[in-house]
Amino acid sequence: MQKDFILKGIFCHTPDRNAFQIRKNAFAVCTGGICAGIFDGIPERFQGLEIIDCTDCLIIPGMVDLHTHAPQFSFYGTGMDYELLEWLDQKTFPEEMRYSDLEYAGKAYHVFSRKLQKSATTRAVIFGTVHREATLLLADCMEKSGVISYVGKVNMDRNVPEGLKEPDAGHAAADTRLFLEEVKDRRYRHTKPVITPRFVPACSDELMKRLGGICAEFDLPVQSHLSENPEEILWVKDLEPEAAFYGDVYDRCGLFGRGIRTVMAHCVFSPEEEIQRIVDNGVWVAHCPSSNMNLASGIAPMRKYLDRGLRAGLGSDVAAGSSESIFRAVTDAIQVSKLYARYIDRDAKPLSFSESFYLATKGGGSFFGQVGSFEEGYEFDAVILDDSAEEAILPDDPLSRLERAFYLGLDQRGIRMKFAGGEEVEVLRHGTGHENMTGADGINDAVQS
Ligand code: GUN
Ligand code: FE
Repeated sequence: MQKDFILKGIFCHTPDRNAFQIRKNAFAVCTGGICAGIFDGIPERFQGLEIIDCTDCLIIPGMVDLHTHAPQFSFYGTGMDYELLEWLDQKTFPEEMRYSDLEYAGKAYHVFSRKLQKSATTRAVIFGTVHREATLLLADCMEKSGVISYVGKVNMDRNVPEGLKEPDAGHAAADTRLFLEEVKDRRYRHTKPVITPRFVPACSDELMKRLGGICAEFDLPVQSHLSENPEEILWVKDLEPEAAFYGDVYDRCGLFGRGIRTVMAHCVFSPEEEIQRIVDNGVWVAHCPSSNMNLASGIAPMRKYLDRGLRAGLGSDVAAGSSESIFRAVTDAIQVSKLYARYIDRDAKPLSFSESFYLATKGGGSFFGQVGSFEEGYEFDAVILDDSAEEAILPDDPLSRLERAFYLGLDQRGIRMKFAGGEEVEVLRHGTGHENMTGADGINDAVQS
């Protein structure tokens, strides 16, 4: 339920990526789901609104997960001895095959959506599987969670095992159209569809052209993968000899920016021409450092991307990424950028905390519109962090407290409340890690069996 209110506390956000803006003892006003700004006192026109007093808490914009895979949560934290293509064959495709079973899918997606609900994430861009009905169950679960999301039915018509391969481009595109109609009929408030070709090796040109047509017809966004792994890139060269580079394949099919909101995960090995096309077309890059480490993919040159003015955010990319935590992605992004600066390009300054925080909030948030900041006119997404129970002696300056909250993973135990689009998202009690994995209601037992 939407209502107007005022939050009181210590606000930390990054209107500009180079520095935090910190406002102590301040008031943020939410009216109609939109932030009216941060004030030192309550302005006359807002007197009388309910005040939620979190005076000693840190209040930040919600985290944006620009890239994740819901069906892969059932095996996250396992299968880390592979690189991308072998990992897809050995771990991912066999698991995704199970989502033809709606009972399994319903249970697994319930677990997934609860996980996001408990986290600091308020927005996510999510892959389902090729299965239309199961992906609708995912959209139902996400809608219930209160987390605002884009959910995509995956399209694949080549180079994947029978059972995941759609019969041909026509069938796949028709199923995506049906998915769009079904989502529309459900009249969700928090959940929207996103066109989802998995990646070039799994999608024929014919399929991608049809999907590009659907994007243009319905003005829909696109999510996919790009230039993640050297073997994958060689495979794309082989499959698509006419293309100038990997991203050019999407572009020729109307799936790469130019008025279509497009997010591409990874871009670890994008050549200069591809980077330029990403900038020119206004494509978002989802940087997924945990995934890129686990699959030994590499390190995306984020310093270069920021300097080039490219649109970017952070993604968990579970299950290649081993945590759904965007707090973790923020610190991972900083840490891998330090290795990049030491081993790959000594001129590339590592990402600062404010830059990485910016990617996780306003950077990724821009894919959703005006999201990820407490500036006036931004949608009101907020996470309230309570670090009072931390055992280490509390540093008293807010920025040190915030930095520590990220490095020590306070999102696992210290979220007091959160709001997405001005509505409170019920933050389910965090238990022990064990309880999270097995599910208080035994759901994960059913999923694992
Ligand atoms: N490329 C194609 N599919 C996938 C996937 O599921 N995860 C990752 N990380 N890369 C992919
Ligand atoms: Fe991915």
